Amino acid sequence: ACFSTSTAMLKDIKNVTIIGAGLMGSGIVQVAAQAGCKVTMVDTSDAALANGEKIINKSLARVARKKFADDEQQQKAFVDNVFANIAVSTDANSAVSQADLVVEAIVENLDVKKSLFAALDKAAPKDAIFCSNTSSLPITDIAQATPVDRQARFAGLHFFNPVPAMKLVEVVRTDAVSDDVFQDLYDFSKKVGKTPVSCKDTPGFIVNRLLVPYMFEAFRLLDRGDASVQDIDTAMKLGAGMPMGPFELADFVGLDTMKFINDGWAQGGKIEPALVQASKALDELVQQGHLGRKSGKGFYDYSK
Ligand code: NAI
Repeated sequence: ACFSTSTAMLKDIKNVTIIGAGLMGSGIVQVAAQAGCKVTMVDTSDAALANGEKIINKSLARVARKKFADDEQQQKAFVDNVFANIAVSTDANSAVSQADLVVEAIVENLDVKKSLFAALDKAAPKDAIFCSNTSSLPITDIAQATPVDRQARFAGLHFFNPVPAMKLVEVVRTDAVSDDVFQDLYDFSKKVGKTPVSCKDTPGFIVNRLLVPYMFEAFRLLDRGDASVQDIDTAMKLGAGMPMGPFELADFVGLDTMKFINDGWAQGGKIEPALVQASKALDELVQQGHLGRKSGKGFYDYSK
């Protein structure tokens, strides 16, 4: 009879530490702070923390303008109230000492993530829940850096970019994670305004597992000369109801990231090889340093 969120069995997540103040980390900090959690944002330098605060400030100001159209005082109070829930630190170990939940959103590198979590395991409370926001690394491999007890409290919590706007969270369930922890993460996802879905620890989870092969087939359609970038994007927007075409989306995500994910899956050998076949057009653009919007050019030119 104790399936409600108010039972003692489940953990009331109040203190949250987010490691990594980049694009994703800052967004997760924002939604958790907006939901009333006490959040500590961690990065390796003051400059990176300042960057995270800048991203949050800009995003909150937008929310505030929507909420309180012509009342600048209320807008400011709203932003200040959310920031009152946010502390910053360059010392990850001390930042997790009181944490109920730790979410990692640092560089996408297995060894770097493993060494971070090995250290955090010793610094965090025994019952703290650990999560990674990784898009492409197996959660089980990252969790391997921690003892068996922690592995039962270690899951994936995969948010989408931009975090404040995107409604989905994939809660990634390893074979080791306990039912209670899984339920806590479902509840936490709802608390921060998201809709959680559950997926086993398989490459790409749900969204990327379907989206990335679809995008690569679009690139290969271009490679074969079957259709143009513009026509493929127009076709998928008007014919399949996609908000962005596959090439627009790839430029938005970053072509290096697209290639990194696909190459990783191809090497991992867990996916049908035809689905992860490389694209000549993509490889050439990446080699030339044309990485999409962030570099001013990708499949499209953004320089003007
Ligand atoms: P980012 O490059 O914007 O931010 C990463 C931040 O982590 C930087 O501020 C960096 O200084 C910091 N960092 C690096 N090593 C650190 C360490 N050892 N300790 C503390 N901070 C450290 O990267 P982004 O895009 O936010 O990605 C972060 C994670 O989120 C990756 O695992 C990525 O796969 C995942 N992800 C990314 C999505 C995206 O659309 N960019 C979507 C969903 C997940």
